Amino acid sequence: MPQDRANSIDADLRTRARNVIPGGLWGHLNAANLPEGYPQFFASAEGCRLRDVDGREFVDLMCAWGPMVLGYRHPSVEEAAHRQAEQGDAMNGPGPVLVELAETLVGMIPHADWCLFEKNGTDATTACVTIARAGTGRRKVLVARGSYHGAAPWCTPSLAGVTTEDRAHILHFDYNDAPSLQAAAEAAKGDLAAVIVTAFRHDMGRDLELPDPDFARNARAICDATGAALILDDVRAGFRLHLGGSWETIGVRPDLAAYSKAIANGHALAAVTGNDAFRDAATRIYTTGSFWCAAVPMAAAVATLAELRRMDGPAHMRAMGERLHSGLDALAARHGIGIRQSGPPQMPLVLFDDDPDWRLGSAFCAAALRAGAYFHPKHNMFLSCAHAPADIDLALQAADAGFAAVARMG
Ligand SMILES: Cc1ncc(COP(=O)(O)O)c(C=O)c1O
Repeated sequence: MPQDRANSIDADLRTRARNVIPGGLWGHLNAANLPEGYPQFFASAEGCRLRDVDGREFVDLMCAWGPMVLGYRHPSVEEAAHRQAEQGDAMNGPGPVLVELAETLVGMIPHADWCLFEKNGTDATTACVTIARAGTGRRKVLVARGSYHGAAPWCTPSLAGVTTEDRAHILHFDYNDAPSLQAAAEAAKGDLAAVIVTAFRHDMGRDLELPDPDFARNARAICDATGAALILDDVRAGFRLHLGGSWETIGVRPDLAAYSKAIANGHALAAVTGNDAFRDAATRIYTTGSFWCAAVPMAAAVATLAELRRMDGPAHMRAMGERLHSGLDALAARHGIGIRQSGPPQMPLVLFDDDPDWRLGSAFCAAALRAGAYFHPKHNMFLSCAHAPADIDLALQAADAGFAAVARMG
């Protein structure tokens, strides 16, 4: 294990990347956003273990930021992908697996009468907004302040390169705050096309909040009263909390929903599901992409969803998340350190008390990484079906080293 990160393969790749890739890398994976000592480049992954380019191995609690849900290189998923690859992937049109996957999703997700496929979460959320506007003939879309829905001009967090026209019909409300949602709906004055909400509040760097059922019912009621679409952005949480869509946990059904990340265990795929009220609009919009009908990720998705159903993936991830949660609580108490754990057990966040700039959280992560576990200081983490109790216990041993490092900071 190299001690000197400056002379590592990772450091060398970063230097080369800075010459040929603006900023060395885009978005959240830019080195500037990584905790101290974190690798930027990875060599391989299997199950819930990641290996970086310098040969360090970690128990992974980020799961490729969500796509890995069954385990890296899961045998039944890779076998299905390989079988399809032997037949064809991107062809002049889709393979039969497109229909099989669509039937699978419509059978699994109670609000869904139909679905469309894309590649990324941004494709899916953007298609939902376009379908809602086509279906209602209206323009305004209500978005929770601070919610992430992707990297298109209507929703990207950076305003660089975005025009005011791109955002002209976006109005804001506060997540879980029914009066602010009501006020935003009134401000839309008869021009309301959609309310878009994430499965729970997962804004970077602040405590996660589960959806308040009253807030969710209120959003549903506003959409029912106005004919606007309730869009559930389930890109991040989909297939981890509930296989029928994350708001099945609170009994509120959207009109349209966006999925990606976990749907194909790391193969590139996204989906929009919708009900019959928006079927005609989904037929009329023009949406497509060169790779959107590729058959390999769809075969991977069919296998992923079958395995998640077979083993009740959400229940397994919940159990592993609960083991992690209670272990972290016990360790923090033993070290006399105040932490806050929030979010659903399958997608937890750990924040330290009195840590507005995540300095303690970053020190915890740096030390835990050195001890063999990949935590994140301010983004929600992800459990997977590949995590077994022994993996959680290894992560907790590493967390012990993390808490010790924080305790030394006084
Ligand atoms: C809730 C949510 N919506 C949309 C997106 C965008 O997905 P993608 O990065 O695949 O475009 C993300 C990505 O993290 C997300 O978490």
